[in-house]
Amino acid sequence: MSETPPSPETAGAADPEAVTIDEPTIGAAVDAALAAIAGATTTAELKQVRIDHVGDASVLSRANASIRDLPKDQKAAAGKLVGQSKGRVQKALAARQDELAAAEEEAALAEETVDVTVPVDRRPRGSRHPLRTLQDRIEDFFVGIGWEIAEGPEIETVWYNFDALNAEANHPSRSPQDTLYVAPEDSGLLLRTQTSPVQIRAMLERGAPLYIACPGTVYRADEFDATHSPMFNQIEGLAIDKNLTMANLVGTLDAFAAAIFGGRPVTRLRPNHFPFTEPSAEMDFRCFSCDARLGLDHDADPECRVCGGTGWIEMGGCGMVHPDVLRSAGVDPEEYQGFAFGLGIERILMLRNGVADMHDMVEGDVRFSQHYGTEI
Ligand code: DAH
Repeated sequence: MSETPPSPETAGAADPEAVTIDEPTIGAAVDAALAAIAGATTTAELKQVRIDHVGDASVLSRANASIRDLPKDQKAAAGKLVGQSKGRVQKALAARQDELAAAEEEAALAEETVDVTVPVDRRPRGSRHPLRTLQDRIEDFFVGIGWEIAEGPEIETVWYNFDALNAEANHPSRSPQDTLYVAPEDSGLLLRTQTSPVQIRAMLERGAPLYIACPGTVYRADEFDATHSPMFNQIEGLAIDKNLTMANLVGTLDAFAAAIFGGRPVTRLRPNHFPFTEPSAEMDFRCFSCDARLGLDHDADPECRVCGGTGWIEMGGCGMVHPDVLRSAGVDPEEYQGFAFGLGIERILMLRNGVADMHDMVEGDVRFSQHYGTEI
């Protein structure tokens, strides 16, 4: 089979899609391009118009490419016609591009406008409760001296809260008048009355030596008044190691008092009784307020509102851990000794920051908390 002979139009032309270069053809291509440019409503549409009308496959570009195949004497006129036409289209494209881009930017700005006159929710922000901030500070002190923070459950067993802590079977603190038990009566559960059971849990879990501070909420069947609340917070300290004595206890309390209240640390111990310590003591800190105002020469301001003129503030209980308690927590009292203490966090806040009424700490009025500012 013989090949089809080339048609007269394409014979000798390098480009099979060659365009006839004359006024009507080029004029029509320009008109079509200008109409498409005017009709484009977005820069994206205009991009397609550019491809269609001046891109490589467009009539104008193909016409441009065809010039080289024209007889010499026609090249100049054809070049002028195609060049000027393409120039018109390019100019129209550029103008429309500016127009559409400006409109799009304006629309985007309008859409993103923030109406500063729209009313906003003006409820005041919350504020950290000063008790929480104080508890953090206290924890920081203990972590700073190398102790760990330990926690335990607020619903506790009678065994951890009383038995393991050596409380006699008829100890008055076990009475339902003092302690909130969890129903039913024989559940063996209560709301812990102290953070001391965390001592037992920590000794059983971690063994000796041990240095821990245990902050947490405790519960008692107390009436809510200016100085009592049925729910309050304590921090328990426990150190178990070889050769610990009361001197280590006093040194720790002195450092604690200085860190929390400032001033010269002086701790005074008065004999007392707790089932889980022997010997046991009440601890008093020298009144930081009298100390700051009167200096070294006077012990107390008889009018002082912090200490009531005694020169001392009662802080809580402490002592050397009872050997029976060590035994019930699996620690050998022949090898290890320990000291422990328990402090009320609300009481520290009342003394340190002059809070006169427990109600302020419990009722949750944000104005009370805000007054303390935000301390991280
Ligand atoms: N748990 C005691 C209470 O709530 C306070 C206390 C006293 C804790 C002596 C101790 C301690 O660790 O040694 O009243």
